[in-house]
Amino acid sequence: MKVAVLTGGTSMERDVALASGLEITAALRSRGHTVHVVDIATGFVPPEQEAALLPGGVGREPPPLERLRELERGMLSAGLGEVPAVRQADVAFIALHGGVGEDGTLQALLDVLGVPYTGSGHLACALAMDKDLAKRVVRDHGLTVPAWVMGPATADYVRRLVGYPCVVKPSKQGSSVGLTLVKRARDLDPAVELASRYDDEVMIEQYVSGPELTVGILGDAPLPVIEIRPRHELFDYECKYQPGMSEELCPAPIEPALAAKVQDAAQRAHRALKLGGYSRIDFRVGAEGAIFFLEANTAPGMTAQSLIPKAARAAGLAFPAFTEALCRLALARRGTKA
Ligand SMILES: Nc1ncnc2c1ncn2[C@@H]1O[C@H](COP(=O)(O)OP(=O)(O)O)[C@@H](O)[C@H]1O
Ligand SMILES: [Mg+2]
Repeated sequence: MKVAVLTGGTSMERDVALASGLEITAALRSRGHTVHVVDIATGFVPPEQEAALLPGGVGREPPPLERLRELERGMLSAGLGEVPAVRQADVAFIALHGGVGEDGTLQALLDVLGVPYTGSGHLACALAMDKDLAKRVVRDHGLTVPAWVMGPATADYVRRLVGYPCVVKPSKQGSSVGLTLVKRARDLDPAVELASRYDDEVMIEQYVSGPELTVGILGDAPLPVIEIRPRHELFDYECKYQPGMSEELCPAPIEPALAAKVQDAAQRAHRALKLGGYSRIDFRVGAEGAIFFLEANTAPGMTAQSLIPKAARAAGLAFPAFTEALCRLALARRGTKA
C-alpha cells in the first residue's frame, strides 16, 4: 500500500501527533508498505528530515501557544490536496490528535479529495470531539454520564447541579490540556478561565473518583480493558506522556463481570456516536460501581506504548500488524483494495 501519514498540525497535541506519526511510519514500513510523512502544517517531509521532527520526544508540557499560532499562520490547510504524497496515496493514516485532525475537518477534506483515511468519518469525529454533544448522545443510548453544566456558571449553581469536587475542562480539547480538578467553590472561576483559553466552550463536570478504565474498539469489537493508575490525582498531560508517570495495566485486574460491562458500554458508545475503524472510550468507575462515560477518542495516541496499541497487543495483534489493520479497515470502508 502507498500510505500518507498525516501528522504534526497546530493543535496543542502537535508533539504527541508527531510521536504517533513517526512510530506508525516505521511500523508500516516494516510491513513493506511505501510511506510518506506529511505534516499538515508544513507539507511533505523528506525521509531524511523525519527524525528532526521531534528531536527531544514529547515534553512535560504541550508546545507553547505562540509557536502553534505561528505554524497556523503558514498552515497548508486546503493545499493538502496539492501534495503528491497525499493525492497519490491509497490511504491516509491520520496520525493527528485534537484540532482539525480529530474534529472532522480534515476527514471532510479527504472525503472531497477522494482519499480513504483511517478512523471515523467527519460527522462522527465532530460529534465525539464535542464532549457536551457526545455525552448527550451516549446518555440517550443508556450509558451513565457524570452530571455536568456548561460554563460560565456561578459557584452556587455548580454546587446545586454538579457538586464539589468537580472537573473543569475545555469541551473540545484532548490530552487533559486546560483541565482542572476543582475542590472548592472559590477555585471555580480561575479553572473556567484556564479552560476557556483552549476552547470557547467549557464543561464543568461531576468528579468521579473510582478506578479509571479505557477500552479500545477495533472495527466493531472491544479490545481488552486497560486500567490506568496515574501518579497524579488525574491522568494529566505529564502522566500521559512521561515514562513512569502512570501504570497502565492490560488486561485490567478487575472482575470479569465488570470488564464485560465496560466493554459493552464502550461498544455501545462507539455505535451511538457512529464511530468507525477504531476508537478508545474513557471511563471512570463511581463509588457504587457504576461506570461513567467520560469521552470517546477518535484519534487515540498511537505510539507503540500508547493505550490502544497496548490493548491490541494483549489481543494478539503486534503494533505493525495493528497499524496495517487500520489501513485495511479504511480501504474496506471505501470498498477498495490495495
Ligand atoms: N468527571 C471526571 N471525574 C474524574 N476524573 C476525570 C473527569 N473528567 C476527566 N477526568 C480525568 O481527566 C482525564 C482527561 O479527561 P478526559 O475527559 O478524558 O479529556 P481528554 O483526555 O480529552 O483531555 C481523564 O483521563 C481523567 O483522569
Ligand atoms: Mg481522555
